[in-house]
Amino acid sequence: MDTTNSFKMDEPVGETRLDRGVQDVIGKGVDRFEGPLKVSGRAPYAYENLPGEKVAYGFMVLSTVGSGKVLSIDTMQARSTAGVLTVVLDKRSPRAAADPNDPAPKTADGAVTHYGQPLCLVVAESFEVARDAAKLVVVEYDTEEGRYDPLALQGEAYVPPPGAMPAETKKGDFEAAFAQAAVTLDVTYTTPSQSHSAMEPHAAVARWEGKKLKLYGCYQLVSTNVGQLAKALGISKSDIEIVAPFIGGGFGGKLGIGPEAVFAAIAAQETGRPVKIALTRQQVFQTTSRRSDTIQRVRLGATTDGVITAIGHDTTTSNTPGDEFFEPAGISTVFLYAGENRRITHRKTDVNILLSSSMRAPGEAVGMLALENAMDEMAEKLGLDPIEFRRRNEPDADPQEGLPFSSRKLVECMDEGARRFGWDRRNERPGTRREGEWLIGIGMSTASRKNLLQQSSAKVTLSADGEAQVETNMTDIGTGTYTILQQIAAEMLGLPLDRVTVRLGHSGDPDAPGSGGSWGANSAGSSVFVACEGIVEAIAKKLKVKPDELTLKDGTAIAGNRQTSYVELLAGEPIAVTGTFKPGKAFQNTHQASYGAHFCEVAVNAYTGETRIRRLLTVGAAGRILNEKTARSQCFGGQIFGIGTALTEELVVDKRSGLMVNHDLAEYHVPVNADVPQLEVVFLEERDHAASPLAGKGIGELAISGVGAAVTNAIYNACGVRVRDYPMTLDKVL
Ligand code: MOS
Repeated sequence: MDTTNSFKMDEPVGETRLDRGVQDVIGKGVDRFEGPLKVSGRAPYAYENLPGEKVAYGFMVLSTVGSGKVLSIDTMQARSTAGVLTVVLDKRSPRAAADPNDPAPKTADGAVTHYGQPLCLVVAESFEVARDAAKLVVVEYDTEEGRYDPLALQGEAYVPPPGAMPAETKKGDFEAAFAQAAVTLDVTYTTPSQSHSAMEPHAAVARWEGKKLKLYGCYQLVSTNVGQLAKALGISKSDIEIVAPFIGGGFGGKLGIGPEAVFAAIAAQETGRPVKIALTRQQVFQTTSRRSDTIQRVRLGATTDGVITAIGHDTTTSNTPGDEFFEPAGISTVFLYAGENRRITHRKTDVNILLSSSMRAPGEAVGMLALENAMDEMAEKLGLDPIEFRRRNEPDADPQEGLPFSSRKLVECMDEGARRFGWDRRNERPGTRREGEWLIGIGMSTASRKNLLQQSSAKVTLSADGEAQVETNMTDIGTGTYTILQQIAAEMLGLPLDRVTVRLGHSGDPDAPGSGGSWGANSAGSSVFVACEGIVEAIAKKLKVKPDELTLKDGTAIAGNRQTSYVELLAGEPIAVTGTFKPGKAFQNTHQASYGAHFCEVAVNAYTGETRIRRLLTVGAAGRILNEKTARSQCFGGQIFGIGTALTEELVVDKRSGLMVNHDLAEYHVPVNADVPQLEVVFLEERDHAASPLAGKGIGELAISGVGAAVTNAIYNACGVRVRDYPMTLDKVL
């Protein structure tokens, strides 16, 4: 039996089989089954596919100027190198869109928009020969003066077309209310560009079988990526299969098809051989994408007892000319705190710097660095405890549109965090706690991340031997999707975990929205839920009972006093259901977000300005936690990202040439173990029945949101230095 089951969520979903928890696997901290495969080399990454085949290797030649035109590309010497097969110069080849919202590939017209732009591909018998010959390609440019300094160009910023949110969100009369407010704050923060730089560098392997292209890649949104690649190559989507079952991290840097995929496909066609391309770490920095730098002015006006009457957040971000994406840095300010008069704006500056795109919690992650620092500054001005100040501005409903919150435990997260962290021991006056040469301080911030939900499909098959298989083109970028989908199917169908297998990352399987925006587990999981409901109905029908009368446990169906094993029940005929989940009115009619609170203790060296993180606690509430361990690990990742954001991470652009100066992990400083103390993450019990049939909300990007501000607020409390230019390197603290 092969059927479909579709569910559009127009009403909140009440209790489900997941709440009964008969199989007792949902929510549990089950280990990722592919984890050991990944760390022991048994889970092949994109580049490791087709072992033993006679493949060719490609190496990209990147622009060495930041702005201008390519006049000529001389490939003679490269082509005459022994072992070189061809040099691909193809109009289709340069950068394809890395932004999933913009599937149009950028075509080559000779224009160079940033340093590190891919120009051509040298294809050879080995990676080493290709890399070597790439150095022999001579490119002649007409170099133009570039736009490399977003801060200096701020005056030229313009209103971008709407993206993830409108460029401007306003309510009431902000200017008047701000002018009249008893207490005001007007501060500007800057944050630098950051690199996604996931552990696995971008790679693609292409092989043609007649008209059909099979591409092994490492992309987050396989269903979307097929369309992007088809468009870039000018072929039909149905002729492309993308395979990406194991991905070594993404953070948004692998949302879109990259030039390596387009190049590999063209080169494989030209040479008649499969072609492999792996970017070097330097190329990942120079040619994939970045998080935009930001300039953020926050203005708060309040009554003397700390009620916000005016809240303003004006943000400017940058991107390469013609690229539509802007980082929605003001997004959390729209819904986080009350205030009758509001004004949140986004401006964009065109720069000759690498494409900026979504990076982990695009919007909140950087926006909250400014907002949550400003809240700390304002609390001090008002003589209020930072938690109390936030409590006084807790809105009853979404302050912009008036939509009810589907669930919101922000205050509970702050209170629970304060209790666990010992917030009452905080000295209000900065610089008053000292241990030898170390100044000690604690700080807090809130966390919020909009809950995004997408349509998703998955096929679940209950086989005649009583095992289940889940198939969807969802991806797992290291977040735990495989395991979470396994848990949902096991709980829904009453099967032990080891009798459920999950296949992900094959584009031909039912369409899922992929890994992005923290929607993955909730959206793909809901489609698995819907498919399983279809199977439960089919089982109920066979037993002539209602689905509600069925208890499913350990591969058996129990109805009344009858217990029937699936093997017996199915009698040789499997049940397969393709489930499709669609967010409906339940989603549209409520404001949905996950919430949390961060608490940080730092020690700042009084002589060197060095900051050491001592303790970091995040309390989060994100609806039902589907896997306690993978959810916690996502939050650890966010916390560590936040430490880097606060203290070290910064892409430095050479203002003469547009070169990304610190284009590797030796020079671009992310936290290492010695920088990270014992981290603590606590989840509050929550069910959000309007957010999905699973009653969960997004968690992947929750912890990175706001956490850097908890660190910098702690630095202020330690030493009284309020640096508004991230990261807080020692020179700025001293
Ligand atoms: Mo995320 S930045 O949508 O991978």
